[in-house]
Amino acid sequence: MYLGVDYYPEHWDIDLMDSDLTRMVEMGVNTIRIGEFAWHMMESTEGKYNFTFFDNVIKKAKEYGLKVIFGTPTATFPAWLSKAHPSILSEDIDGRKRVFGGRRQYCFNSNIYRQYTRKIVEQLISHYRDEQAIIAWQIDNELGHEGSDLCYCDQCRGAFQKFLQDKYKTIENLNDTYGTIFWGQTYNSFDEIPIPKKTITSHNPSLQLDYARFRDYSINSYAKMQIDIVRKLKGEQQEVTHNFYGGFFDKCFNQKTMAQGLDFVSYDNYPVWGGLKEPLSPASIAMTHDYARGLKNKNYWIVEQLMGAQGHTVIGYLPRPNQAKMWSYQAMAHGCSNILFFRWRGMNKGAEQYCLGIIDQNNRTSRKYYEAEEFFKDISQYEELVNSEIKSEVAVLYCFDNIWSWKAQPQSSEFDFTNELVRLYTPFHNLNVNMDVQSVDCDFSKYKVLILPVMNIIEKSLAERLEKFTENGGIVIFSFRTGIKDENNNLYLGSVFPGYVQKLCGIEIEESESLQASQEIEILGQGTFENTIGTGKVWRDMISTTTAKVLFKYTDKFYSEKAAITCNNYGAGKVYYVGSGVDEDTLNIIAESIIKQADMQFEKTQSGVEVVFRKVHDIQHKFVINHNEYEVIYEGSTLKAYEVKII
Ligand code: GLA
Ligand code: ZN
Repeated sequence: MYLGVDYYPEHWDIDLMDSDLTRMVEMGVNTIRIGEFAWHMMESTEGKYNFTFFDNVIKKAKEYGLKVIFGTPTATFPAWLSKAHPSILSEDIDGRKRVFGGRRQYCFNSNIYRQYTRKIVEQLISHYRDEQAIIAWQIDNELGHEGSDLCYCDQCRGAFQKFLQDKYKTIENLNDTYGTIFWGQTYNSFDEIPIPKKTITSHNPSLQLDYARFRDYSINSYAKMQIDIVRKLKGEQQEVTHNFYGGFFDKCFNQKTMAQGLDFVSYDNYPVWGGLKEPLSPASIAMTHDYARGLKNKNYWIVEQLMGAQGHTVIGYLPRPNQAKMWSYQAMAHGCSNILFFRWRGMNKGAEQYCLGIIDQNNRTSRKYYEAEEFFKDISQYEELVNSEIKSEVAVLYCFDNIWSWKAQPQSSEFDFTNELVRLYTPFHNLNVNMDVQSVDCDFSKYKVLILPVMNIIEKSLAERLEKFTENGGIVIFSFRTGIKDENNNLYLGSVFPGYVQKLCGIEIEESESLQASQEIEILGQGTFENTIGTGKVWRDMISTTTAKVLFKYTDKFYSEKAAITCNNYGAGKVYYVGSGVDEDTLNIIAESIIKQADMQFEKTQSGVEVVFRKVHDIQHKFVINHNEYEVIYEGSTLKAYEVKII
């Protein structure tokens, strides 16, 4: 089990290294990640490569018995490069060139940048290919993060037009698919097509979806270029990874594509960052781990585990004593098997002065150090357990085309895709059901329950796969605005919503309403949910049933005969349609009934107590995680605030 910290020895006087490494080893560190932003140290002027500094760092690390993950430094190019070649700088949606000074301001479609990337990466990997202490190469850093997924420069416009020509072949085909007849936007040639910078009101929805796909293609092709170089030159003892970030559904970057080229996925776990007044919910954090695990369907690393409060210009909530340690256990519970804390010591200069680590700028050995030490000491006893496979009977399915369709047209000012996915994930998490978070094109036949949050785009082929799943006894849960669009981001003409899954759901939707901030509507339980009162936000579909049963209906004037939540028997299975952003209490009740119907392993726990089931050698283990700031009693024993027990 690799346990360690992110270490930037270049940030301080090199004389600090011995005492740093000594304290790290005492803390239980056996691995450090280095190098990921140090391009200038390796190439201080063009073509003058020098790895002496990192040769010494690695030599010293080996004296202390440490393994090394080395990051390629392409997230932060040197100033001399952008001065010599300003065309590498990306452009924002207003056409403003990003300037040197932050990070990741390069354009993924800059051929010049790709040439310089190739050179530094070839030099770096060749230099260290035989270094036994280096166990993995990390490609760049959080590709696409902090707004770097989007670029609107002329290089990207040209590449975008080529991307479209390769896809549509003829301009007539594009015009027809996009419906450019609307607003007289018919193109005569591909070079007339704009990159969707700011315009008056909004761009064509098909163009916007293709632009998102183009961004994803741009990032993934840049990543593949680097991965190919590393694979060609690296030692066979060295693996290849990349560190993905939270907020992954907000980006025009399908990380699963990149993950296919990696030996293992790495994830950066920041349950709270920047000016948040409180951390993400336990379910929201758990979901990110299930997503990271699902990228390659295997255990993953965390190469940046938050321990100290973090932020660039604004910081926020201070993780309470043992809370970040608890989050580290939660990560291991959900499939992380190797973990590094971000960062050894906070840097006193530069843009991340407030991104605190294990040791603060006072250089004292304090609370956070001892928490990390205790965590390493304890978790290192469970190597087999944390490497065991997680078996889930529930899968939450996402599709980036669908997410990007919503990104272009949120339809409600209150809409946020991740919130809507977590809305359906949370009730099952509350009942401690193991879940996978998977791309919709996975083989989902092995699951008992499929959850498809706000799946706007459903083509016939997906509908048929879902019909087969349900006929065989599966349970499917949809939420609002399901199946209204095709893969070109166009509404279906001539078919009633929810389109291809209309028969599967046993409903028809002719009218809907977008709900804005502070708007919520009441829904009333029927049948087994008699007298249960719930609420809906964000959106509501006015559902009429054909073969489905009404579970909840609206109560307001004009719509009290319309259903809000329905359930349809289909084959040996069932299909639920949740036609609004329904509250957690109501969904908890429905989730419990589904879990019992499907006869799935679950456990009722008090609020804030998370249980994750794991099995190794047929012996069942449970991670019992107290997310509460107060102690709780679990099966007769006390868990202190933020305490975790492995039973
Ligand atoms: C991200 C980056 C790190 C650092 C942290 C700060 O995860 O990967 O380089 O900027 O955020 O929280
Ligand atoms: Zn660009």
